[in-house]
Amino acid sequence: MTPPPDSSDPTALPEQARAVAIVPAAGRGERLGFGVPKALVPVRGTALLTHAVRGLLNAGCVRHVVVAAPPSEVESTAALLRTEGLAADVVPGGADRTESVRLALRHATKVIPDARVVLVHDAARSFTPAEVIRAVVAAVAAGAPAVVPVLPMADTVKQVDFGGTVLATPDRAALRVVQTPQGFDLDTLTRAYAEAGDSATDDAGLVEKIGIPVATVPGHAYAMKITTPFDLAIAEFILSREEAQ
Ligand code: CTP
Ligand code: MG
Repeated sequence: MTPPPDSSDPTALPEQARAVAIVPAAGRGERLGFGVPKALVPVRGTALLTHAVRGLLNAGCVRHVVVAAPPSEVESTAALLRTEGLAADVVPGGADRTESVRLALRHATKVIPDARVVLVHDAARSFTPAEVIRAVVAAVAAGAPAVVPVLPMADTVKQVDFGGTVLATPDRAALRVVQTPQGFDLDTLTRAYAEAGDSATDDAGLVEKIGIPVATVPGHAYAMKITTPFDLAIAEFILSREEAQ
């Protein structure tokens, strides 16, 4: 009898249990203010998207990458990744992140019909360490239908009304900041996108809406989302530290 795969080492997983990664990269990057889509903004000479896709492929547990790019940038994005030697399909994204993921997911299920594990990973979390990617894939491979990387809250959080007056102070110990990649078994994510209806700021939010439990694994400070020029400066720092090692 063949022993079950060792899910604690996702790089040893059989091909079918390795993840298909969907990378929403179709945003405009307005808060970063570079005048080009954020995924194409360079850090130390290389586009954020390139860093993100390379990180996924180098983690050793991702079999295929599908990128959702701004519709006007599909060709240039595909050419960019080809030039960097990174194998990825590039499809046109949608009007919001949820729509971009929906379109890329549809493509992924067509080109990899036997996929079982799917990751959704923001291009803007370009420096996510391999250990986070592997922990998410390992947890899905071990049977969790949905998994998110999380960090504890450093700050106290207030709930406020529309006028800005504080309504409540939720217990910080029970709160987590959520990152990507978020991992799912394919049937769960497909159902969530079919049934949950409207948009969500993360994919696990749609899975929660259809009543399926979402597990957590430890995230990492380097998996921060690059949103503002300040974040970009931090990203430069992260990369210079990595390159110095
Ligand atoms: N995204 C996407 N399609 C959209 C909007 C966002 O694929 N229509 C992607 C972004 O490219 C990014 C991720 O979703 O990788 C998270 O979005 P965010 O950080 O908000 O990026 P932008 O929308 O590009 O930034 P901004 O909101 O400042 O314009
Ligand atoms: Mg946005």
